[in-house]
Amino acid sequence: MKTIAFFNNKGGVGKTSLVYHLAWMFGELERRVVAVDLDPQANLSGMFLDESRLSELWTRQDKKTIDGDIAPLFEGTGDIADCPHLERVTDRIGLLASDLALSRREDELSAQWPKCLDGDTRAFRVTTAFARLIARAGRIFEAELALVDVGPNLGAMNRAALIASDYVVVPLAPDLFSLQGLRNVGPTLKTWRHAWKERVRNKPRDLQIHLPAGDMEPLGYIIMRHAIRLDRPVRAFARWIEQIPGEYTKSVMGEEHVPSTQHDDDGNRLAHLKDYRSLMPMAQEANKPMFMLKPADGVIGAHQRAVQSCYGDFRNLARDIIKRLDKNK
Ligand SMILES: Nc1ncnc2c1ncn2[C@@H]1O[C@H](COP(=O)(O)OP(=O)(O)O)[C@@H](O)[C@H]1O
Ligand SMILES: [Mg+2]
Repeated sequence: MKTIAFFNNKGGVGKTSLVYHLAWMFGELERRVVAVDLDPQANLSGMFLDESRLSELWTRQDKKTIDGDIAPLFEGTGDIADCPHLERVTDRIGLLASDLALSRREDELSAQWPKCLDGDTRAFRVTTAFARLIARAGRIFEAELALVDVGPNLGAMNRAALIASDYVVVPLAPDLFSLQGLRNVGPTLKTWRHAWKERVRNKPRDLQIHLPAGDMEPLGYIIMRHAIRLDRPVRAFARWIEQIPGEYTKSVMGEEHVPSTQHDDDGNRLAHLKDYRSLMPMAQEANKPMFMLKPADGVIGAHQRAVQSCYGDFRNLARDIIKRLDKNK
């Protein structure tokens, strides 16, 4: 199984919607996926599940979320769950759900991180809790892919999420904030990667767990058109779009010499997704992805064509991701 994190420290760019729609599209393409909600805001869990199911998962006794599964380890009574709770959304989509309580784990993750350098066993168990949980869920579900959604920050929880990831996809908006975000994300990934490799070298001999490689290899970026502020003239965001290939190559790929590519044929660009406008609220209302909306959900006329084109966009994106993973095998 390959694990892909969708990561950017800029919020509201469409990360969660992207993970949700891609999970469904991989399912359409007959791939088995685990969607992993590592954002304590639990937006991804809320997209997949209705409130009554969420509230069942969140009941205090035997909580069926990532936080519930890691609780014995973090509270010092054991290790992560042998059999994590995987919510079956469809035959091909499994969900590791989140809840707000996950945010309390940040401090412990942060405290254990430096202790890995001393070869401390518990420090390694805590730091790899998400990685091991995702790997277990993937094995149980026989998944080919895990898609990880995280919150918009560079904290210890996201570091642990990224250590669990083989690849990173960066969703971004064509604006100043996203460009600045790239200048943070790139160097942060590099620091985490190196820091983790250094810790792996200090793995205690008697530690019986498999440590993830923590490659976090950049797979590409996705421009999210909907996040453009519509009160701006078109030229303003065209200027930001032009700067993305260079900034991404420099900050995320760490390459000194930036080729003068047009953004249209930039090899690092996975997609440039449209603003699907009213399809998004309709999809939320119908509790399904935009590209699966039917006339019974209220899509008629021009909306039907938009649904078809949305299906094509996500199918192309999912296929491109698979192609890139195959190339890296
Ligand atoms: N392609 C899109 N077209 C239209 N609206 C979108 C699109 N992607 C996301 N949105 C909307 O933008 C808002 C932010 O998206 P979300 O996925 O929650 O972002 P993030 O996870 O980065 O904070 C949500 O209201 C979502 O419905
Ligand atoms: Mg989100």
